[in-house]
Amino acid sequence: MPAFTLVTFGCQMNQHDSDRIGEVLRGIGYEEVAEPVHADLIVLNTCSIREKAEQKLRSEVGRLGLLKQRKPGLVIGVAGCMAQQEGERLARRMPQIDFMLGPDNILELPRILAEVELGAPPPIRTVFDLNAPTFLSALAEPGRTGATAFVTVMKGCDERCTYCVVPNTRGPERYRAASDIIDEIRRLVVAGVREVTLLGQTVNSYRDPAGSLALAPGAGETHFEHTRRAAALQDESEFPALLRDICERVPDLARLRYTSPHPRHLTWSLILAHRDLSALARHVHMPVQSGSDRVLKRMLRRYSIAEYEERATALRSAVPGLTLSTDVIVGFPGETRADFEATLGLAERVRFSGFFGFTYSERPNTPALKLPDDVPELEKRARLEEIFALTDRHRREHLQSLVGQNERVLGERRGKNGDFMGRSEQNEIVHFAFEGDAIAQMLPVTITEAYDNSLRGVVQAGFTGLPRASMIGKAPSRTVRRALPVVSGA
Ligand code: 5AD
Ligand code: SF4
Repeated sequence: MPAFTLVTFGCQMNQHDSDRIGEVLRGIGYEEVAEPVHADLIVLNTCSIREKAEQKLRSEVGRLGLLKQRKPGLVIGVAGCMAQQEGERLARRMPQIDFMLGPDNILELPRILAEVELGAPPPIRTVFDLNAPTFLSALAEPGRTGATAFVTVMKGCDERCTYCVVPNTRGPERYRAASDIIDEIRRLVVAGVREVTLLGQTVNSYRDPAGSLALAPGAGETHFEHTRRAAALQDESEFPALLRDICERVPDLARLRYTSPHPRHLTWSLILAHRDLSALARHVHMPVQSGSDRVLKRMLRRYSIAEYEERATALRSAVPGLTLSTDVIVGFPGETRADFEATLGLAERVRFSGFFGFTYSERPNTPALKLPDDVPELEKRARLEEIFALTDRHRREHLQSLVGQNERVLGERRGKNGDFMGRSEQNEIVHFAFEGDAIAQMLPVTITEAYDNSLRGVVQAGFTGLPRASMIGKAPSRTVRRALPVVSGA
């Protein structure tokens, strides 16, 4: 049986694509192996969001090229955003590569492999499926799925954030029919999945192409002080209606997350959905990118800091205890010390529980290339260190504040030491010991200790859980939501 290895770089969308590539390969008789030395086919699923990712690919291809010298039949393929953006150029510069596969061309993989086998020059398939978009679903096989799964609801991006390569690598926005999304979630839940994360580049700009969704409560309303009504109407989407539909039609889904929303589509109606839907996790990853209005304008982010903050505040008052995480770019062209300090100020006020910071890097064919990349590299790094010091402290303080609290933790994996790892509703990683199988169980856990990036807890006395097999095919209903058995004296 031929063997393959998949190496994935980048975001959850790429991980989702890699899972689908694996399914296609298994479907034509390949088996997956962990070590490239044992593989006949190696697929590198690439990311091009920052320059570093590109350097990683180059060194990986170089290393695999040496392996290929020893094993001439080895096939090396490059998939994902770099293949899409620079397929031709990369194929010329890296002769070790046998084929290129864009994110919308995964189903063509068997045909491409056949061409490679017949000796064709490196096939390059990087065509966007603009007229008939396809959305690949997970093969939901009972007992083979994990506790959590990603489900794509839209792909591509119509924003034009001036630093970002994604509109080029993933193309314009295309949406999946709500009925398909719900069917996939239903299948996953029947196969044993408890938590679904909806995926999309600007996931909350979602609209149902089949037009099946009713208007969500609060649609077109704004009770924000800083957001004008015209903008609120323009930024409205059907995403809150989709969330409501999923929760209504798949009531056995224990937890629902989504990533990544664009702040301008974080509308009043979406905040009401958070207030009303108990399955929606109490955590939102809301990329802000900068705390300075001047920089946000140059980034073409289409919101002000006042708007961002009032949405964060409204979300938190609708759902007490909701945590926010964010992405920030430091050293964007023209970012002054005062702009950067505005970002520090924002972090101090919002207190993110998760923080992803990056130094700006120039990307091919992006509008920001017209602006001189004028913040010296050393200064960019120093700013990043400075903001990490602040946000690391915020995270540690947040984790510390949870000691003694009761959390609902979904068991996801077992570690090498036999302990389990899961996530709370607020997205904190929690380690705990458990006698039985904690995977895919929603466990009541009392937090006993805070580490730098995670928590430790003990499962509350008396909780025995359900055997996994009994949950598959008839996932337990959601009636236990937020009703934690509270340990007296905790
Ligand atoms: N330089 C640095 N960071 C970037 N990101 C996107 N493009 C760039 C770039 N050119 C960051 C943003 C985004 C995250 C996924 O990557 O913060 O939210
Ligand atoms: Fe890139 Fe902006 Fe689209 Fe996000 S919203 S993918 S940062 S262009």
